Amino acid sequence: MCGIFAYINHLTPKSRREILELLVNGLKRLEYRGYDSAGVAVDAADHKDIAVVKRSGKVAALEELLQERSVDLALEDCVDSHCGIAHTRWATHGEPSALNSHPQRSSEDNAFVVIHNGIVTNYKEVKTFLENKGYFFESQTDTEVIAKLIHHLYSQHKDYTFQELVEQVIQQIEGAFALCFKSRHFPNECVATRRGSPLLVGIKTRRRLSSDHVPIMYTNNKATRGVVPSVPRVNSHAHFEPEEERDVEYFFASDASAVIEHTNRVLYFEDDDVAHIKDGVLSIHRLSGNSNDPHQREIQTLKLEIQQIMKGNYDYFMQKEIFEQPESIVNTMRGRLNFANGTVTLGGIKDYIPEIKRCRRLMLIGCGTSYHSAVATRQLLEELTELPVMVELASDFLDRNTPVFRDDVCFFISQSGETADTLMALRYCKRHGALIVGITNTVGSSICRESHCGVHINAGPEIGVASTKAYTSQFVSLVMFALVISEDRISLQKRRHDIIEGLHELDSKIRQVLALDSEVHALAQDLFRQRSLLIMGRGYNFATCLEGALKVKELTYMHSEGIMAGELKHGPLALIDDSMPVMMIVMRDPVYTKCMNALQQVTARQGRPIVICEDGDSETMSMASRCLQIPRTVDCLQGVLTVIPMQLLAYHIAVLRGCNVDCPRNLAKSVTVE
Ligand code: F6R
Repeated sequence: MCGIFAYINHLTPKSRREILELLVNGLKRLEYRGYDSAGVAVDAADHKDIAVVKRSGKVAALEELLQERSVDLALEDCVDSHCGIAHTRWATHGEPSALNSHPQRSSEDNAFVVIHNGIVTNYKEVKTFLENKGYFFESQTDTEVIAKLIHHLYSQHKDYTFQELVEQVIQQIEGAFALCFKSRHFPNECVATRRGSPLLVGIKTRRRLSSDHVPIMYTNNKATRGVVPSVPRVNSHAHFEPEEERDVEYFFASDASAVIEHTNRVLYFEDDDVAHIKDGVLSIHRLSGNSNDPHQREIQTLKLEIQQIMKGNYDYFMQKEIFEQPESIVNTMRGRLNFANGTVTLGGIKDYIPEIKRCRRLMLIGCGTSYHSAVATRQLLEELTELPVMVELASDFLDRNTPVFRDDVCFFISQSGETADTLMALRYCKRHGALIVGITNTVGSSICRESHCGVHINAGPEIGVASTKAYTSQFVSLVMFALVISEDRISLQKRRHDIIEGLHELDSKIRQVLALDSEVHALAQDLFRQRSLLIMGRGYNFATCLEGALKVKELTYMHSEGIMAGELKHGPLALIDDSMPVMMIVMRDPVYTKCMNALQQVTARQGRPIVICEDGDSETMSMASRCLQIPRTVDCLQGVLTVIPMQLLAYHIAVLRGCNVDCPRNLAKSVTVE
């Protein structure tokens, strides 16, 4: 959903070529967030103007254009201090084109340029106001109003600092945003802010930082409502000076993967923080708050390693992430599951367990794949917690204004921790007094921060747009939660023991499933020209059907549908004939007989089902036109194993169809708009 990256150095001489390479590399790391166009703004060779270079297409296309313009960009010039901003876009307002790409500009002379991740919901009003002031709009984006608005404010208040102007701007705009500004009027300065979209700053100094905190300055720079600002402001001098000489580099980014190769010291901004970098000094400003508001923001040290975000020997990030699953699920369980004595500890929720046990019901809320992990574990949660469990798509949950009560416990499942629908649903439940539990993969994300407690799934960075390892780690996290809640239920001890044993062996069983890769590849060769693929199952494996179909759709652009096998005779059976590709998941679990009935109904209509079944299950195999045999595990964990052939199948079909595996068309990794 758009990636933001900015680089500001101070007294650290670098050639323009190095600076541009740095910006482009930052964008490449963020490309999973959107990839229909990209752009940068840097100081022009004469240092007086700003050069804006934009192109539709992927970051590589922008890189080529920068090379073509190497002479007028004076790439070999060395500069001591510089501010460059860069953006990779996922279009929301206006088609993908160079004109609609960011940075958006205030005026032909690029007096102010801005990059934006999010949506300005009141852009029409602001645009009308500015048009009445004589501004002409050249793009179809909502972002352009921001560039023009700051220009207008500057023309009214020449004495304002850059940060004060931005404070005025964000009081006039509504919606979600992370923004970085650069201006000809404020050379080598950068101002960034966020509301609802993620933003952090990476800090790189030659020596250790003298403090781990950046003070917040409350500015009282209040604008009146409407688009015309007023008011004088109060200055204070709180700021962060990393070194005496201030030889420092700062990196604003939408997420940590873009900065980790430069520094592991990062600070996550909160909504409405306005960060200003000038002369090597970072200051954070907020409009006046009350005495309970924090006085500083903490600089964190990330544990992320650069290797974790590189492709290694794999062709695609998605492929790497599928094959990482034996390790990623172990990381999810590490330090939490003690296999020797059968105890499970989830540190992030342990203080809330008594409250959770007393609750009226559990609600699991998410979107897409994260929602499917809720579907996959619902039955086990119902069994082990003995509580009613609702699973909800965040968007639908909000559309219905679903009743939520103080004694509800609401889980928000999200790989990115930034999905707007899920975040909105979280805030809705929080307003209704429910206990909020975040299940995320991204430390410092909005969902993490806004939850009362939570479980970090520890799957490691997921770069491929299609979620794979996050799904299995979400799955395992929810299973661990069910185990925690049922710890003292005597009647459930045997069941718990079997599940813990199953978790213990899960990584080696995942490895066995991954060894089917060439078989799945052969299957993909037979299927990749088809127009449709139906995937059927029920019980614990229904979620695999939904998730498998989602993977096939999003990666291969082929139609695919996950069908509850119990519903077959209520409609989908009409689709079956000898040419319709059908996959069925038939495990030796409590719904085995029912699945076999469905299998028979399919073969009776000349269907030729491809079956995922247990190793050596000859009875089931005799009914199938083709089989993938996978190892048996405890029924409630089987979905972790059955989903992997589906991930591999979608991956191979996508490669065979020539689709872009890591960046499927029209999608973005982190959907920060509703
Ligand atoms: C599908 C996929 C999406 C996400 C969904 C929610 O492969 O990745 O369906 O699962 O957009 O994203 P998160 O989990 O970041 O909230």
